[in-house]
Amino acid sequence: MSEGQNNNEYAGLQFDGYECQFPLVRGTENETGIDISKLRKETGAVTLDYGYVNTAACRSSVTYLNGEQGILRYRGYPVEELAENSRFVEVAYLLVHGKLPTESEQEHFSTLLNEYSMIHEDMRHFFYNYPEHAHPMGILSAMVVSLSSFYPEMSQGNSQLGMSEEEVDVATTRLLAKIRTIAAFSYKKSIGEPFVYPRHDLKYCENFLNMMFSSPVYDYQIDPEVVKALNILLILHADHEQNCSASAVRLVGSAGVNLYAAISAGISALWGPLHGGANQSVIQMLEQMQREGGDLQKYIDKAKDKSDPFRLYGFGHRVYKNYDPRAKIIKSTCHDVLEKLGKDDPLLQIALDLEERALNDEYFIRRGLYPNVDFYSGIIYRAIGIPENMFTVMFALGRLPGWIAQWKESREDPQFRIQRPRQIYVGPNLRHYVPMSERE
Ligand code: SDX
Repeated sequence: MSEGQNNNEYAGLQFDGYECQFPLVRGTENETGIDISKLRKETGAVTLDYGYVNTAACRSSVTYLNGEQGILRYRGYPVEELAENSRFVEVAYLLVHGKLPTESEQEHFSTLLNEYSMIHEDMRHFFYNYPEHAHPMGILSAMVVSLSSFYPEMSQGNSQLGMSEEEVDVATTRLLAKIRTIAAFSYKKSIGEPFVYPRHDLKYCENFLNMMFSSPVYDYQIDPEVVKALNILLILHADHEQNCSASAVRLVGSAGVNLYAAISAGISALWGPLHGGANQSVIQMLEQMQREGGDLQKYIDKAKDKSDPFRLYGFGHRVYKNYDPRAKIIKSTCHDVLEKLGKDDPLLQIALDLEERALNDEYFIRRGLYPNVDFYSGIIYRAIGIPENMFTVMFALGRLPGWIAQWKESREDPQFRIQRPRQIYVGPNLRHYVPMSERE
């Protein structure tokens, strides 16, 4: 019996005179699901689950999370081992292809990433016509979907349906190569500097840093410590199972639209301050605390006050009710990077003090609210020289291989179908049209 299938175990449900048996589904890490795919057919009823807190949308073999134990693995490999020993391009290959590459596979993949790293020259005009302070996430989302116009390799007229495996490989590798260039160009646009083109003699992260920080008058010196920190950050952001943006990619992709449009939807979802946009909101929150004299308790109290919309950005998580394993690694990388770059960021001490207070506060302890992936990442981006409005773009760069892996798995799933949830209608009952002259 393949994993994730029914093994003749059932959950019973009795209501309104119905007696139903629904198959149990067991995952490879002993997670249990109740397959209710026949519920509406047998009873006319649907389930209601705001935020999908209790709902699995699919079977997946990409990433395993255990929120209670703080476990995160990509294709079975602990993220701690990958952050310690691997590089982002190797992890991207692992997520997209399901296995670690051999030397020749890695070499071929890196060569393609360089070959595909340029964007069509006509795309430059899009950048020139954006307002000066356009947010790079808005630019990124628009640029990615526009790739479907410049690279219509979808043999089925801009649809993913019927794409060959070869076409999928080209489209996904092309996107991984170009998103780095688009991100760097959007930064150059925002500071009014000329674009720096990708170079074939540089590896993925080095190329990105060079496109970001070199200029005709400044030859950026690539610091191996910065490259190492960037690889770790991108690896830690690479996937996170069925989070909001991955679910957006799967849902939009389920309509059969092309890859670029589905990924563009993921970028838009990630932009939200409750999701990937939190890394920018954390730094803005810490800067505000610093400006206001560092009264941290005031913010802790605001975060606990239900009448106040303020939330402690970078804290809390839908799945982790323990320390986010990624936050632990990023926190220690923070100290390393600042020390090796000889930098001192007062926001780090504010963040450490804030964490200390929150983790000793009953409100946060009772709700299992710990620092998440976004709490310390901005401190490293600042140390590297990346501006605040690019922080979520960095998250998107890291998350792209995960989105691609989820998109590929969804379209290869034997149960692939368009996603269309149901609802519980609570609106007006039947009523008939009344001419305006007769209305009160
Ligand atoms: C990411 O899903 C993923 O995997 C996402 C991600 C990924 O890699 O893709 O990990 C990336 O998005 C990380 C999260 C980044 N967002 C933030 O840091 C924003 C601040 N965090 C919160 O908005 C919140 O914790 C969420 C959005 C992350 C989670 O929201 P949930 O799961 O809906 O939790 P909830 O709102 O139901 O909170 C439960 C309780 C509530 O209080 P009670 O109603 O029980 O009294 O905890 C409280 C919340 O008010 N709470 C917070 C809080 N987070 C939750 N209170 C104060 N500050 C916070 N940050």
